[in-house]
Amino acid sequence: MKMPMRRALIGLGLLLWAQDGKALFQANCASCHAVNRRVVGPALKGVHERWGDEAEIIKFVQNSQAYINGNFKNSAYAKKLYEEYNKAVMTAFTALSPNEIKSILDYIKAESAAAETANTASGAAGGGGAGSAGGSAPSDTSPLLWVLTIALGAIAIALFITTLSLSRVLRPEKEESSERGIFQQVGNFMASPRFWGIAGIVAFLWFCSATIKKARSVGLHKGYQPVQPIAFSHKTHAGEYKIACQYCHIGVEKGKSATFPSTNICMNCHTYIQEGSRYGNKEIGKILASYQENKPIEWVRIHNLPDYVYFSHAQHVKVGGIACQTCHGPVEEMEEVYQYNDLSMGWCINCHRQTKVDLTANPYYARLHAYYKEKEVTVEKLGGLECSKCHY
Ligand code: HEC
Ligand code: HEC
Ligand code: HEC
Ligand code: HEC
Ligand code: HEC
Ligand code: HEC
Repeated sequence: MKMPMRRALIGLGLLLWAQDGKALFQANCASCHAVNRRVVGPALKGVHERWGDEAEIIKFVQNSQAYINGNFKNSAYAKKLYEEYNKAVMTAFTALSPNEIKSILDYIKAESAAAETANTASGAAGGGGAGSAGGSAPSDTSPLLWVLTIALGAIAIALFITTLSLSRVLRPEKEESSERGIFQQVGNFMASPRFWGIAGIVAFLWFCSATIKKARSVGLHKGYQPVQPIAFSHKTHAGEYKIACQYCHIGVEKGKSATFPSTNICMNCHTYIQEGSRYGNKEIGKILASYQENKPIEWVRIHNLPDYVYFSHAQHVKVGGIACQTCHGPVEEMEEVYQYNDLSMGWCINCHRQTKVDLTANPYYARLHAYYKEKEVTVEKLGGLECSKCHY
């Protein structure tokens, strides 16, 4: 007797899930793609079969240019496609999380399957097939969905049992507990305004949380990895050859900005190293050209706080003694740098709440030391959560 309701709830969950994907698809992709026909980009029907691995599609969608020019599993295929589409550049979707792209892909998968079933026109069998395919898809896409479904299921069962016992208490004279009676009660419950009220509240809460999540991610670009004008590798320079970060990012201990290295800094070495082991003189040649033409290399900026935030590298690196990697991740292992943290306000604040300031290594704090009697002083206690410290 629990089955119909559980199925209904799973159905509800799937519906919400697919709608999420649909909305995201329409907002981000529909200007260039349709599922069943070519628009600016290819028809997306059957894209899973063409790519084999969903994780690869996600990487492609997040930054198709990096994927095409990079060395990923399907880069050759993507490059061919890119040429086939006259080098039309697909927008990079770095602001979409892998889960959001997954939900778009699930929507595409569901639409492709729907088109298939429409073609094979065998109502019942087709419906069953789609049902089981739909049931297995989310298990590898979203554990969250299952937790949600189970939680909703549990709530529904609890409510159902309460309703049952309540109605028994209210009508003790009616001795009716046959199968038919129970089914009828399930039916009544499903038809009752209470059921739809609950369903409405659940849908509304889901909508709110999705909206808030989306709104909060506006302007945050965790994972952002644009294509750089030169295939410069931190893994080679900072990792293998152990060149100090400060050698190139000379501003980092002096002021607000860490700064990008000027061509001159590269030339300190590349005057002598004119052939690389990977690209010959193709990439290093660009440095020489920049030097000779006196044109700076146009590095694409990755980390970028909004204008109304004040952040100083010197304060954190020199005074605070924080390692670059705490904020930027293992840069020395990155072939291409990407944004490791989301640089949200919550991220700054969390660290300020938790980080203890080293009062011994720094003469500046010798005077303050006497003032703060407590042994453990966090950045928060020094005023690091005051709005005006970070906002102009
Ligand atoms: C500005 C137009 C544009 C937008 C917007 C766009 N795409 Fe594309 N997409 C393309 C083009 C053009 C291609 C062909 C490859 C290329 O030129 O890079 C492509 C290729 C693809 C492919 C590979 C298709 C295949 O057959 O292998 C996938 C998957 C894809 N896009 C998904 C998406 C998703 C998901 C979105 C929305 C989040 C999206 N695209 C938004 C233009 C776009
Ligand atoms: C040989 C010079 C060199 C060294 C050494 C070096 N970098 Fe870089 N770094 C660059 C160049 C050039 C760029 C711009 C191109 C890019 O993003 O890869 C850059 C970019 C970055 C960026 C991204 C900046 C942005 O927002 O666009 C970070 C973060 C970074 N470096 C951190 C480090 C850290 C941490 C180290 C030490 C482990 C380090 N770098 C060592 C040359 C260097
Ligand atoms: C302290 C010395 C030093 C500095 C400074 C330096 N490099 Fe290098 N670079 C190297 C060494 C060593 C290699 C490895 C050469 C090899 O692949 O055999 C290398 C390799 C490269 C390569 C890969 C070439 C290839 O074909 O594999 C590129 C591109 C490059 N450097 C760009 C830069 C840029 C851009 C800068 C300035 C931001 C820079 N380098 C600064 C020492 C340096
Ligand atoms: C407390 C966190 C933190 C630490 C530690 C840190 N950075 Fe940054 N870094 C940031 C933030 C935040 C930005 C974005 C700044 C902006 O947009 O104004 C950034 C930007 C950069 C940039 C881009 C250019 C610029 O200056 O805006 C480079 C390069 C960089 N960091 C290198 C480094 C290096 C090298 C170190 C270590 C010596 C380091 N960072 C330590 C947080 C940090
Ligand atoms: C990894 C930890 C960490 C992160 C992340 C971090 N900070 Fe800090 N911040 C510190 C520490 C430690 C200090 C205190 C340094 C000192 O003065 O000894 C500090 C100090 C400051 C100060 C000076 C506070 C004062 O009282 O003078 C400002 C402003 C600031 N941070 C802004 C930011 C902003 C903006 C961000 C986010 C973009 C950020 N910080 C992220 C650790 C962090
Ligand atoms: C430690 C640094 C820090 C402190 C202290 C801080 N902020 Fe922020 N704030 C940021 C950063 C970084 C951003 C931009 C990133 C983002 O949008 O989340 C931001 C964004 C904002 C925004 C833009 C809205 C948004 O979420 O995009 C508002 C409004 C704001 N802060 C208000 C405040 C107020 C009010 C205070 C004092 C109670 C405060 N901030 C204290 C770092 C800080």
